[in-house]
Amino acid sequence: MARNIKLVLEYEGTGYHGWQQQASSTPTIEGALRRALFELTGEAPALQAAGRTDAGVHALGQVVNFRLEGDFATEALPGALNHRLSPDIVVRSAEVVDDSFHARYSARSRRYEYHVRQAAGRAAYAVCSACHGPQAQGNQALNAPRLNSQAGWYLARQLRHFKQGIRGADDRDTYAKQMIPMAATLADDTAINNVVAYIDSLPDEPPPATLVGDPVRGKSLYTTCAACHGTAGQGVWSTNAPRLAHMSDWYLARQLHNFQQGIRGGHPQDFSGAQMVLMAKILPDDRAINDLLAYIHTL
Ligand code: HEC
Ligand code: HEC
Repeated sequence: MARNIKLVLEYEGTGYHGWQQQASSTPTIEGALRRALFELTGEAPALQAAGRTDAGVHALGQVVNFRLEGDFATEALPGALNHRLSPDIVVRSAEVVDDSFHARYSARSRRYEYHVRQAAGRAAYAVCSACHGPQAQGNQALNAPRLNSQAGWYLARQLRHFKQGIRGADDRDTYAKQMIPMAATLADDTAINNVVAYIDSLPDEPPPATLVGDPVRGKSLYTTCAACHGTAGQGVWSTNAPRLAHMSDWYLARQLHNFQQGIRGGHPQDFSGAQMVLMAKILPDDRAINDLLAYIHTL
């Protein structure tokens, strides 16, 4: 008979659009937990949570319950799930509970604390604003790209990579080298998450096109890219591929050149960058890059 399992979770919600599962491309806590449970048990039970947290909200003791058909040992669940979850989600405990237990209806109290993390992020952003602009809209004259349209999980990874020297490792990567001391002003993951939370709060408007290309030709070239970046260039968390729509075209062109020449993506720990090195090489010339970016501009 199916057992009713209760989990207690702790998570850092910065990289997620809240608890509730949405379209497959949107990272949510529920989506991540379901994926881990499925990988582990082959089952995809409905998950009940005590509270549906919003985007960017963290939890210290989120209670979740679900029914499991198989006989996976309950005491081994936290370890096995944590092994499959990214480090910002932790299963603290698992136990079998009475069949009548329901995480939402059985909750006797819920405690919410609101911390104004954006305020800390805003202070940290002051230094960034000199190059990326007060609205993180980017500044071509300073080679600093638009950030306000990009997904938080991707920005946070790039900031960690700049800090760890994984991005900007190549001597020819002069622009990324400028970012290394800037990322170093963010002391730790919390500081990175705070600044990303602030950037996320800034308005996202499509930037003007600066390149000329043939969007019709670009559309057919984009078919390959869509497999990872999404058909609307929206970025897909599960493939690690960032948003391309609404990004500065001159910056994307430079990144494609950098990937082609191995200036970016060559560091042995840059697994996601290495994927792009292979992809950028399928673009034969600058015309292909301009056509592609002209199409991406229409997305
Ligand atoms: C001196 C100018 C300068 C300052 C100040 C600066 N940046 Fe940058 N930033 C750049 C440049 C130039 C690039 C493009 C690097 C490249 O082309 O590879 C960049 C790239 C980035 C990227 C990568 C974007 C992407 O799409 O991959 C992120 C994230 C970023 N900056 C965040 C920040 C944050 C956060 C701060 C403040 C802590 C900051 N930057 C301060 C110049 C700057
Ligand atoms: C196999 C999956 C995959 C495919 C296919 C793919 N990409 Fe990517 N792309 C990625 C990943 C992953 C990254 C993030 C690299 C990183 O984290 O440094 C990325 C990053 C990029 C960037 C850098 C964005 C930034 O903000 O710095 C550009 C530009 C880009 N891709 C364009 C393309 C184009 C154009 C195509 C089609 C020719 C394509 N990609 C095909 C996975 C893919």
